Amino acid sequence: MFLTTKQLFDKCYGRYAIPAVNVFFMEEIHGLFAAAQEADAPFIVQTTPFARDYAKADMLLSMIQSAARLYPQTVFAVHVDHGIEEHIWDAIGSGGYSSVMIDASHDNFEKNVARTREVVERAHANGISVEAELGVLAGVEDDLTVDAEHSSYTNPQQVVDFVNATGCDSLAIAVGTSHGAYKFSGGQGLQFHILEEIQKRLPGFPLVLHGGSNVSSEVVARINAAGGNLKTDAKGVQEEEILKAIPLGICKINIATDTRLLWTMVNREFFRDHPDEFAPTTPGKIFMEEYKRFMLQKFELFGCVGKA
Ligand code: G3H
Ligand code: 13P
Ligand code: NA
Ligand code: ZN
Repeated sequence: MFLTTKQLFDKCYGRYAIPAVNVFFMEEIHGLFAAAQEADAPFIVQTTPFARDYAKADMLLSMIQSAARLYPQTVFAVHVDHGIEEHIWDAIGSGGYSSVMIDASHDNFEKNVARTREVVERAHANGISVEAELGVLAGVEDDLTVDAEHSSYTNPQQVVDFVNATGCDSLAIAVGTSHGAYKFSGGQGLQFHILEEIQKRLPGFPLVLHGGSNVSSEVVARINAAGGNLKTDAKGVQEEEILKAIPLGICKINIATDTRLLWTMVNREFFRDHPDEFAPTTPGKIFMEEYKRFMLQKFELFGCVGKA
């Protein structure tokens, strides 16, 4: 069943969080929907502009719609992640999305408000909910790299004005996470005092955590043992941090890096151990199983098992 993120957030606020997972190809979509059906857990399947260019927007959406038929007990929203206007208008026109993110967080406050406001008007007229972002995360997303010195935490003094002026339905905030595999190289972790200040000013309003991957050191070690060369001091969001963030209003936690690392691990190990093989479907099946197992753990951690 296809819901808006607003419907999902109304139920989960303060009690559990919904994983929002970026998908690019078929095997991920099977793994995600299979896990959700088994766990009876709600989720958000999301596509970035990069993913929509890579797979082609229509192909990606068709695969998601096909998965909804193949896994009929699933309850989910389909979301544009880190959208800009051209992708958002296209996604609204496709009829297949229940929510969009307008990421104008790199603009100044006034421009961010104006761009977000326009998206909210057009999205709401079509029954679609809108995530906006205030504050700038460091790291790599799509082809944009933001250095730590150009990133900035969300200013709690601005959140009420921003939400009132834009009419957005949820707010992505920068509270110490970053995109990609190399988060927290400085070891600082989530800034709970900022999150608390934001939640105090926006009680009951759904907050979104980007950069939610855990970057498992075991997975990184296995990739490197199979010929990879990833930095090993990388560390993502810890389980305790997730559990602490949920009662503070974090309703949606975005994950992309973890599933990419999983793909890299499965394929590197498979071709290392089977140098004579060349069928994509054999590691593909292993990947779908690993992906499903990974998502079952996330549903458990986020508290959304049985909540679909
Ligand atoms: O922030 C979102 C994703 O990490 C971006 O993924 O650049 O591969 O679309 P992508
Ligand atoms: P990660 O890089 O931690 O997976 O973050 C994903 C994200 O925020 C997608 O919008
Ligand atoms: Na998003
Ligand atoms: Zn993000």
